Amino acid sequence: MAISMDRKNGYFYLRTKNTVYVLGLHEGKYPVHLYYGKRVKSPVLSSHTQALSFAPYYAAHGYDFLPDVTSVEFPLFGSGDMRATALKLRRLASGAAATHFTYRSARKLAGRCEIQGLPFASADENTQTLELCLEDEVLCCRLYLYYTVFPESDVISRHFVLENRSEGDVSIEKCMSLALDIPRDDLDMISFWGGHKCERNYQRTPVMHGNQRVQSRRGASSHHYNPCLLLCERKATEEHGEAYGFNFIYSGNFLDEVELSLNGTTRVLVGLGAENFTYLLKAGERFSSPEAVMTYSAKGVGQVSRNMHDFVRSHILPRDVFPQRPVVLNSWEAFHFDIDAKLMVDFAKEAVACGMDMLVMDDGWFGARTSDAAGLGDWFENKSRFPSGLAAFVEEVRQTGIKFGIWIEPEMVNPDSALYRAHPEWVLAAPDYEPMLSRKQLVLDMGNPAVRDYLKDAFAKTFDGVAIDYFKWDMNRNFDYAYSTALSPQQQGEAAYRYMLGVYDLFTCFCQRYPNAMIENCSGGGGRFDLGMMKYSTQIWTSDQTRPKNRVYIQYGSSFGYPASVMSCHVAKLAECKNPRWLDYRFRVALQGALGYEFNIMQASDTVKDALRRQVEEYRGYERLIFEGDLYRLLNPFETNGVSAYYYASKDQNELLLSFLQNEGEKKPRSFRLKLTRAEKNASYLDRLSGKTYTGEELRRGLTVCTDKEEQYGIMWHFVKQ
Ligand code: DGJ
Repeated sequence: MAISMDRKNGYFYLRTKNTVYVLGLHEGKYPVHLYYGKRVKSPVLSSHTQALSFAPYYAAHGYDFLPDVTSVEFPLFGSGDMRATALKLRRLASGAAATHFTYRSARKLAGRCEIQGLPFASADENTQTLELCLEDEVLCCRLYLYYTVFPESDVISRHFVLENRSEGDVSIEKCMSLALDIPRDDLDMISFWGGHKCERNYQRTPVMHGNQRVQSRRGASSHHYNPCLLLCERKATEEHGEAYGFNFIYSGNFLDEVELSLNGTTRVLVGLGAENFTYLLKAGERFSSPEAVMTYSAKGVGQVSRNMHDFVRSHILPRDVFPQRPVVLNSWEAFHFDIDAKLMVDFAKEAVACGMDMLVMDDGWFGARTSDAAGLGDWFENKSRFPSGLAAFVEEVRQTGIKFGIWIEPEMVNPDSALYRAHPEWVLAAPDYEPMLSRKQLVLDMGNPAVRDYLKDAFAKTFDGVAIDYFKWDMNRNFDYAYSTALSPQQQGEAAYRYMLGVYDLFTCFCQRYPNAMIENCSGGGGRFDLGMMKYSTQIWTSDQTRPKNRVYIQYGSSFGYPASVMSCHVAKLAECKNPRWLDYRFRVALQGALGYEFNIMQASDTVKDALRRQVEEYRGYERLIFEGDLYRLLNPFETNGVSAYYYASKDQNELLLSFLQNEGEKKPRSFRLKLTRAEKNASYLDRLSGKTYTGEELRRGLTVCTDKEEQYGIMWHFVKQ
């Protein structure tokens, strides 16, 4: 049983396969946090109520209840907790942002509660939810806290619903979905920073006193920071020590906040934040926060990642549309905007000859889009490039024996487009100022239903009845200022949030209208590499950076929160592969996710084409293991000047796929021992690539590898139990 309630003593237990989370009610009134950690019979409960001078208290409770030093379940601004808080509410009638919520009731639910308008993790037969109802009688608001337990992946999610039962309006001024007080003052924080073409760099720093934040203010979860955050004890490694993982099922602005306070407790908060979000909750209305997730392991950072991977695969990603993930040939890096029907059909023929499954026609097929300066928003085919129309062209491509995918960027508009000329008021831009451009484009106000109706109609006219197997959904700029002409001045703080609701609505419409097509998500590469997007997209274009020396870092960083099956990885820049070994290295690097290709294959020699055919075949032999196996990281390129190693283990331990990648960075000869602790001690394993046999014991003790070459190269071993 995932959830049990001891109503008499006011304790609630949330159990997953390996963890337990305990909360209680202080004096039957205040939900306090008592334990989150290893699943043991009698967890040591603590809520840290030791008195500290200056901490405010209610006269009725005296020193018995000091919100400022207590591990509360959901810290509220204006309630005597002076640390970072999860929720700030302002009663507009008085202007006060004080609150005093107390417990009213609890319910245990089978499955989960849906979150209206937002993506959320799907339940399975083991999922259960605890609902706690709190009330503030002055504010006349009810606050429902939801804890949804996913026992098999060791994940617990949190979100809340706020109900305004008063006759006046309430403004939500800070909104965090998850709060957790960890009774430790020796934690490290692992976060991911970057930019376009260099996403998700790993950074491990000690959590210091004060407030540490990772956040996006860009309207997208962004290339710059990722909502995935890990905390671990200072001495934790990949395989040892206490570690926690957090993430947010949302794709817009976010805030991860970590605060170590004087009482030696580290508080973690995950949510929408306060800087780019306010919400006017009118009398009688309800607001649901997005969902945030957490996991814990006593077996190191690697296990936290594996929990996240299992969770994403089982509860986030959409079902695979095809029995096998298609190996894609994408037109972008080959031709950029210079495409037409004939070229694409020829391109498709070459892809088929090399054993690839899907031709993806990237940007440049619609409106006046022959460069990035015009046409975005005008979603009909360019007649001079596709004279027989889209449907007939797609048929021709498919007759070559390949599936067909197409690029779209629904959320954007070029000023030079029919759409913008007709509706300049449909963009998010500061009123009375000149709108700011990025990549010569503006952001459509997706929160405005009229904009979405236009897009739904335009895409239906162009795509209905056309045999499309795959959409590459791109988004190529961030916000400068989110102001919506569809909202009142008092609601402008909602514009960025409503934009995301609108985007999710359009995704839902696509998924329903084209159920047999898969979506690959993209935002100039990995600018929206988050659990919100993963709810609709089978895979995400990991980065616009296709050079392996950088990809090694990007993919390694991404692996902390996300499984390989979601990372789209292409072999690209053929012209740079002067040496056949380099093509092989690119392939080995791309084996950290769903394989694709992205170069002008027409210019490839027969030898290269043979090599590509062999690569696709080889990939087919590994893909299940990569997509469904457990990932073990061995060498972190951020700590080894670019040398990386990891392996995938099948759940039954019958197969292990080990990769060692020496990047350009490392020049000095150096040796490493790669220990495969997942190998079965007494078993014997055949490496299918070298033909050599190893005992499990040998693999556990480790293989020695050396960085003895000047250039980048990769070695792989595919061990199969005999
Ligand atoms: C950015 C994407 O990341 C690229 O792969 C490509 O689709 C371009 N946009 C097209 O404009």
